[in-house]
Amino acid sequence: MKIAHFTRIGFILAAAGSAVGLGNIWKFPYMVGDYGGGAFVLIYLLTILFVGFSVLVAEIMVGYVGRSDAVASFQEMAPDKKGNWKYAGFMGLTGLVIMTFYSVVIGWILYYMTQSINFLPETMEVAKEGFGDLVGNQIGTQIVFHFIATLFVMSILLQGIKGGIEKANKVLMPALILIILGLLIYAMQLDGFAKSVEFMFAFDFSKINSEAITQAVGHSFFTLSLGMAAILTYSASLPKHTNIFKTAFYVVILDTVIAMMAGLMMYAFVFEFGQDPSAGPGLVFMSLPTVFSQLGGLGTFFAVLFFLALAFAGMTSAISIVEPTVQYAMDRFKWTRLKATTIASVIFFTVGIFALLSYTADYGKMFTFGGMPLFDILDKLTTNFLLPFGGLVVAVFIGFVVQRERVYAALSDFIGETTFKVWYFSVRFIAVPALIFTLLNLLGIISISKG
Ligand code: TRP
Repeated sequence: MKIAHFTRIGFILAAAGSAVGLGNIWKFPYMVGDYGGGAFVLIYLLTILFVGFSVLVAEIMVGYVGRSDAVASFQEMAPDKKGNWKYAGFMGLTGLVIMTFYSVVIGWILYYMTQSINFLPETMEVAKEGFGDLVGNQIGTQIVFHFIATLFVMSILLQGIKGGIEKANKVLMPALILIILGLLIYAMQLDGFAKSVEFMFAFDFSKINSEAITQAVGHSFFTLSLGMAAILTYSASLPKHTNIFKTAFYVVILDTVIAMMAGLMMYAFVFEFGQDPSAGPGLVFMSLPTVFSQLGGLGTFFAVLFFLALAFAGMTSAISIVEPTVQYAMDRFKWTRLKATTIASVIFFTVGIFALLSYTADYGKMFTFGGMPLFDILDKLTTNFLLPFGGLVVAVFIGFVVQRERVYAALSDFIGETTFKVWYFSVRFIAVPALIFTLLNLLGIISISKG
């Protein structure tokens, strides 16, 4: 297969562009609020460090050595080159499920961006009402913006790796980082900042329960784009002799730092203005616009810029969520990029409509199953189950299936024997058991909530 290659810096930006997304800025802060502040942050950080990083290296390795779409890459690396390991590559399909709700949220962001030009809510009540109205009643508006989001994502995907994905990331990533940094510096001047630091870093162990653990582990996979062959697919286009260990390290650092910055900034505002830290998925859409409204004309400027950056972050992630499916369909069925992208987009766009309907007053009941709206089902199914499961498959594959010499050969140019041993050990005996534990834990939670 002929694929255009990333440049090295292009890959880091693309991988970081994939990792840094709505997960960092929309999802992470409200999850911290929902699952007990510092306790959640602590488990999240531990998972990133001891599981996420090692699995990330493993996933990059499969793509880097396999040099193809996910299915063919697993097959290429499997010891017998036949067997059933190729089916592991179908974890890429998880992306279509993630995209259903991800694209709806990018739609909300685009809506808020345009909305902020004319109107910013002055109080939290107004903000709450506004978000509630959008999500609960404005079906047409949501579908239109979900559609625009879909078109944007499609148009980048259509340009392929070199023309679209790498170029978009090179501009959008630095812009995003600057905006978040600016907002954080502003937030540091507020009294709420100290409270924010305490909220996020006071590790209260009494708040750790099995649900918080499941959520934190799942989210650490979500935020690093792990467990569904996204990074794997990008890695197939890495130039030879790229230091995949260092690359993984940069991605983890960048992703974690941006999540922390976003969380600290958001909670400084939340506490400064006496808002509710557990506002759920509406947090970004309620807390920041209220804050911006206090700043007059400058606030409008900040608001538009912020939502623009958030939309960028979302789109650079979205393309990585769909690319594995697109790449596979092109290789396997010899579809053109246009055909593969269009079909994938139609699927997630359509299911996304059902997801957004599940939050509406009129159709919510129709799309709520077992007490859970379809939107939440799609989110929880992927974050809490499919991604950790995909990660487990990658870790077992690299840790126990592929011959040790082959794994070592992929890394020996970049790291010494000792570092290799530590990493290999952590894939085999930390990541694998931790993920099995998380998945069993999930079964426990499900059976408890049923009983
Ligand atoms: N990591 C992105 C975020 O935090 C989302 C994402 C992009 C993703 N690609 C992925 C999640 C692949 C899981 C798998 O928003």
